Amino acid sequence: MILYFTATGNSLYVARQLDSNLLSIPQEMARTDRHYKDEKIGIVCPLFEFEIPQIIKDFIRDSVFETDYFYMIITYGCHHGGVAERTQEFLKAAGKPADYINTIIMHDNALIVFDMDQQRSIEADKHVDEHIAGLKADITAKKHMIQQPSQEETDFSSRYLKNKETNGPMYTFPLYRVTDACIGCGTCTRVCPRGCVSLSDGRPVFDDSKCINCMACIQACPVKAIRFASINEPNPEARYRNPHVTLQDIIKSNCRI
Ligand SMILES: Cc1cc2nc3c(=O)[nH]c(=O)nc-3n(C[C@H](O)[C@H](O)[C@H](O)COP(=O)(O)O)c2cc1C
Repeated sequence: MILYFTATGNSLYVARQLDSNLLSIPQEMARTDRHYKDEKIGIVCPLFEFEIPQIIKDFIRDSVFETDYFYMIITYGCHHGGVAERTQEFLKAAGKPADYINTIIMHDNALIVFDMDQQRSIEADKHVDEHIAGLKADITAKKHMIQQPSQEETDFSSRYLKNKETNGPMYTFPLYRVTDACIGCGTCTRVCPRGCVSLSDGRPVFDDSKCINCMACIQACPVKAIRFASINEPNPEARYRNPHVTLQDIIKSNCRI
């Protein structure tokens, strides 16, 4: 069994290659009694600023996993920054240490840093399918391993997190604005894993108190009417969804309305 969270499909794509029994974490969050039992249980999710997303931590803390083999796969775009070790610390503190934690580099969907078209052009160099085959072999063999970071990865995330502590977060609210291109289709309301986008007079309204910056809404807008309110992104005309994943897949995974 795999429990997954995805904003733009990378984590869903990986989860699908590893298991056929998939449960979406945003959908499971709606249930109060969360007890999962299987021979192997995996969690697949993206990396957000060198951490697993808060929604995943909340999910893990309040769920019971009854299994012989508990693993996590974290998808990321350029630097994992030693997230596996940090995640194991979190899991140990939660009383649920993992047997295996690994990461996989994929298309980086962080719009405020990267041009999605440029990312697409270097995707083949990341050898995603080869890496997935390696993960699958490890999990089939029930390998025990927590990925150890290189010094470069540790230094990279330390610098970033120190800078965040000194200069404040990169993502400030209100995060988004909506342009006149909006057609009121409501796609943004249906891809949000937190149910924090609603339509008012045919235009999206964001509940910042629940937003986790996952960018599902801005990435999925079919007319690119959602823009950052005060951040200059490298290419506002380029958006991303994993090519093996449909918009319906994202809606089915995340829709909370
Ligand atoms: C808010 C945010 C923060 C991110 N932080 C990192 C990061 O620290 N390092 C990194 O390599 N990728 C980072 N990424 C990129 C994603 O982890 C990566 O593209 C992931 O595969 C997306 O998975 P998904 O398509 O399942 O949502 C970030 C993306 C977002 C939206």
